[in-house]
Amino acid sequence: MAFPGLFRLQLLYLSPLLVFCAGDSKCTVDMSSPNQTNALKRLEPLFGRRFQKIFEPYNYTLAVCAELGQDFAGAVQHEGRNTADKVLGRLNDTHLIEGLNWILLMYKSGDPYKSHCGNEHRKVMLMISCDPYTLASGFTLVREERQKNDDCFYLFELSSSVACNAVGKTGLSGGAIFLILLLCFVAAYLLGGFVYQRFVVGAKGLEQIPNFLFWQNLGNILADGCDFVCRTKPRVEAAAYRGVGQDQLGDDEDEEERDDHLLPM
Ligand SMILES: *[C@@H]1O[C@H](CO)[C@@H](O)[C@H](O)[C@H]1NC(C)=O
Ligand SMILES: *[C@@H]1O[C@H](CO)[C@@H](O)[C@H](O)[C@H]1NC(C)=O
Ligand SMILES: *[C@@H]1O[C@H](CO)[C@@H](O)[C@H](O)[C@H]1NC(C)=O
Repeated sequence: MAFPGLFRLQLLYLSPLLVFCAGDSKCTVDMSSPNQTNALKRLEPLFGRRFQKIFEPYNYTLAVCAELGQDFAGAVQHEGRNTADKVLGRLNDTHLIEGLNWILLMYKSGDPYKSHCGNEHRKVMLMISCDPYTLASGFTLVREERQKNDDCFYLFELSSSVACNAVGKTGLSGGAIFLILLLCFVAAYLLGGFVYQRFVVGAKGLEQIPNFLFWQNLGNILADGCDFVCRTKPRVEAAAYRGVGQDQLGDDEDEEERDDHLLPM
């Protein structure tokens, strides 16, 4: 049980690194708008991912902030060998809208319609909704809206964990990563030390704890330190004070003597 958990944690702290290695976005958004740049940042783990889906007679491909072929194509419709691919939207005209658990990615400036939609440029939308258990799945075409005079669009859908972060909260902070690393280290130390002490050294009981003597001494040193720093009264007085435990252990001879006369002889 402990190992898959540990493995997951490691993946978690590696993921910002992977994103960094995945390279930059080819999407051109309005960089002056904090909302656009923030949404783009949330999409980072998906940069470069391509999704394909066949809906007869067409075959659709959509890439997240990566170019398909040339001319900034972000989504294409492929009909057959003898027909040129149609560009549904371009990366240099990217628009993003984000909500608490969804992100809408829109590419405009696609190839113009020939006989629909007032010959306007095609545009494509990808609705990404939150699914914490997958980076990307369930890519599908919801519908193609083209029986109108304008504002036609292709609407795709995708489930992804990138859509789950609340607005303004992206990834893990440095402190969280440090804590996770520390926890991993402590867990590995305890587990490894335990196995070593038990099976190699053959220790029993508390001594199975790795470096048991060291930790025991550390406890004493800390206790002394605290005693020295925290106490307001001098140590001598503290020693003269009789703890309840000592009385109950019965090793206080004065007390026993004083009690003696109470017993019927
Ligand atoms: C950005 O988002 C906030 C709420 O999240 C909204 O109030 C604001 O109007 C948005 N700004 C733009 C330029 O869309
Ligand atoms: C779908 O279209 C792409 C080109 O856009 C092509 O590379 C791919 O082989 C096609 N897939 C199928 C199953 O036809
Ligand atoms: C995007 O690129 C295409 C092809 O190079 C070009 O025709 C179009 O005007 C560009 N759109 C924008 C908004 O820059």
